[in-house]
Amino acid sequence: MKLISKSAEGLHGEIKIPGDKSISHRALICASISDGTSKISNLQESEDVINTLNSLKQLGINIIKENEFYKVEGKGFRGLEASENQLYFGNSGTGIRLMSGLLSIQNFSSSLIGDESLSKRPMKRIIDPLSKMGANISGSKEDTLPLRIIPSKKIYGINYRMPVASAQVKSAILFASLGAQGDTKIIEKSMSRDHTERMFEYYGANITYSEKETYLKETDKFTSQNIEIPGDFSSSAFFIVAALISKNSDITLKEVGMNPSRIALLDKLMEMGGDIQVFNHSLFGKEPIADLNIKSSVLNPCEVTPDDVPNLIDELPILFIASCFAEGISSFIDIEELKHKESDRLKAMQDGLNKMRIKNFLDGNVFCIEGMGKDYKSPNFLAETYYDHRIAMSFAIAGLNSNSSIEIASPESINTSFPEFIELGKKLGCNFEIS
Ligand code: S3P
Repeated sequence: MKLISKSAEGLHGEIKIPGDKSISHRALICASISDGTSKISNLQESEDVINTLNSLKQLGINIIKENEFYKVEGKGFRGLEASENQLYFGNSGTGIRLMSGLLSIQNFSSSLIGDESLSKRPMKRIIDPLSKMGANISGSKEDTLPLRIIPSKKIYGINYRMPVASAQVKSAILFASLGAQGDTKIIEKSMSRDHTERMFEYYGANITYSEKETYLKETDKFTSQNIEIPGDFSSSAFFIVAALISKNSDITLKEVGMNPSRIALLDKLMEMGGDIQVFNHSLFGKEPIADLNIKSSVLNPCEVTPDDVPNLIDELPILFIASCFAEGISSFIDIEELKHKESDRLKAMQDGLNKMRIKNFLDGNVFCIEGMGKDYKSPNFLAETYYDHRIAMSFAIAGLNSNSSIEIASPESINTSFPEFIELGKKLGCNFEIS
């Protein structure tokens, strides 16, 4: 399959963005371990989320799609059943890390695997804290997949200072804490997304959380709840930037998740001079949502500081693209974590920026991009994506402002988080061609 993104005239119209990926994983898992039936609407139907859904089914949970929602019959914290086969999480770090926490408190063994990219990603970051809690979890010699979890006599709550700010690690610990003796306290250097905390609260857990500290008291059950999933802010980010950098654009995105731990990109883009209006504020469960209107804008460069990074970690590739169209040098400090995502995103983006003939350089822990201003047009080229969905979507958006087109290699990866990207993009006026 080939995706060609051709220069476009401007984006217009209103769309609803499909459900958030992070919240979809958590909704499925929390519903599965609650004490009754939960209905989930606007679940993200991406490969990543469907892999988590299938693994829960393999573990004995009944999940049925009924019209607009998924019905999940929860079986309590320890009600999962052993799976005969290995559990496959595809490309998803979130799926495998969250489920590792939950599987650590079960009284059966599990083996967890993933695709080629996930098989290379670091698992020591969860193996360490879970082992400290008493879990029997191990990976390969290099602490990568496959992960093997065998039942342990007892799991204890933990007082843990996280070496890297990571919502996946924090959440693995929180899920393991549901079967633990004693309370759990987690301290982070910078705030990471707090969807697990919000959902635990929604399901009745005894949890308190602030910017950098989470405290979970012993909790023995979750009360089933219906959940409506907000639109995915990270998916929206591609169209937000597309509208800002494409002339004569004016688009509206409906019911987008506005969790404060996820929307640093909005602040950055507004600081850069982006014309973005946020309105119709509301709540889905404990998660804030709003509608967004975005118009073409002249952008100034941005400065990303270490504290910003966890909050816009998934949006850095598309923020790099926005920076190419800003007037001047943008800087990004401490973005090392980008190397440990679905691909080495720093390298993948540098490769593509070089092909766009955008000057960029890495000086110690500072990455700089020299923007060419609003009239810049990218030369035509083939973007390597390393089977990484966010790299593919970032260069697809750059293509809208190219001399004529950018070709995207292995665009199938987009299905890991946003299968509707091409169709919704076309609806807004993106000139995407699939062959
Ligand atoms: C996620 C957390 C982030 C993010 C990922 C989703 C989550 O990863 O990059 O796409 O749902 O918890 P880290 O926690 O590893 O930074």
